[in-house]
Amino acid sequence: MKIDILLGLQWGDEGKGKIVDVLTPKYDGIARFQGGPNAGHSLEFNQIKHILHSIPSGVFRKDKINIIGNGVVIDPSVFKEEVESLRDLGIQLTDQLFISKKAHLILPSHRILDAASEAAKGKSKIGSTLKGIGPAYMDKTGRNGLRVGDILGEGFRDKYNFLVNKHREILQLHDFSYDISEHEKEWFEGIELIRSFPIVDSEYLVNDLLAAGKSLLAEGAQGTLLDIDFGSYPFVTSSNTVCAGACIGLGISPATIGNVFGIVKAYCTRVGSGPFPTELVDDTGNKMREQGAEFGATTGRPRRCGWLDLPALKYSIMLNGVNQLFMTKTDILTGFPELKICTHYDIEGERVDRLPYDMSLEIEPVYEKFHGWDEDISSCNEFNALPGELKEYIRFIENEVKLPITIISVGPDRRQIIRR
Ligand code: GDP
Ligand code: IMO
Ligand code: MG
Repeated sequence: MKIDILLGLQWGDEGKGKIVDVLTPKYDGIARFQGGPNAGHSLEFNQIKHILHSIPSGVFRKDKINIIGNGVVIDPSVFKEEVESLRDLGIQLTDQLFISKKAHLILPSHRILDAASEAAKGKSKIGSTLKGIGPAYMDKTGRNGLRVGDILGEGFRDKYNFLVNKHREILQLHDFSYDISEHEKEWFEGIELIRSFPIVDSEYLVNDLLAAGKSLLAEGAQGTLLDIDFGSYPFVTSSNTVCAGACIGLGISPATIGNVFGIVKAYCTRVGSGPFPTELVDDTGNKMREQGAEFGATTGRPRRCGWLDLPALKYSIMLNGVNQLFMTKTDILTGFPELKICTHYDIEGERVDRLPYDMSLEIEPVYEKFHGWDEDISSCNEFNALPGELKEYIRFIENEVKLPITIISVGPDRRQIIRR
């Protein structure tokens, strides 16, 4: 059996959580392959709105396998909070959620290092979620990290103390006051909780499931434009968010990949700093933020908003080998008299449709204009019933990117979906 991959094509928050929840009934299991609690994946159903950070978005469907892959970085404190809030909703995960031995741990001191690093950058800060993601992945590639499997062996506490001391030495270089002990208690409680879950060689688990004919969906976090290699560096996250990241983050061969589903918001948003060519810092942008409730699921920060960016979308599709597009938050564009889609960039007088190496250049977006619509589409469940103007907007995108948009999301609830 092949594994399908679902990932965000913009700067994150495209609605991955909702779509994974919608698709989960078709699969035997869901596996997260990268990122950590910087992610906030929202799901809504039966008047419940829930946000997941490190746990895959398949957990609300009965009898599904959920896997946290080796490419994920786990903060035991956040994990504990997530498990507890799921238990409050009556979801008992212990037999349903498998954790990779090779997933790296985020220590309380990683969070402090993250904050110290951002403070030192001053005006050029990344706008990190401050969840310790960058420092944890640095320790992974620096070959200093602690992994989930380490909690099963002897001497875990010594390994922990050794790494924290290393972090203290680094922190001496920063003029930054901190108190690690504040977070340590809940962190070690989180470690105890992780012990109660099946801690597995997830690369074997995933490949065994596929060999046994089980269907799996790999869930990405963040988005392609935040990829450590291909995003708008240095304003990116610290993992590979692209499709290839699923091979590394789960231990699967590229030959096992089936469909690659790319999620795109009907417009663009970005949280944190960094280039955003189609950003609207005007009333139109404010209206998108208000109508779209564009505030971070993890940090609550207002999201920057702007028009859909085709050069960026085409770049993301190319990098991931996307074969189906799913469009979310289409309903949010209702009530705008005129809509725009950026088809090209004008950079220093030259018209281009590729992302430049230096995204900090003065980029002037070239727009195609579209008529808006006023009809409420939030309870619409078939394509033909959508307003003509929206169909035109969708067909224009499909024609430009040469891919079908096979799912259109028209609201946050799992029932608010149009399949084609
Ligand atoms: P993710 O990180 O990609 O899972 O996305 P987030 O959950 O961070 O942000 C998406 C937000 O939009 C959440 O609040 C969702 O509940 C909401 N959402 C998802 N799809 C739709 C949609 O089609 N319409 C509306 N109005 N909201 C949506
Ligand atoms: P989901 O999975 C949106 C952004 C941060 C910051 C940059 C680096 O919900 O789509 P980090 O915490 O990784 O050091 O932050 O990346 N960022 C996200 N933006 N959605 C996310 O995840 C994000 N995860 C990180 O705002 O600009
Ligand atoms: Mg999110």
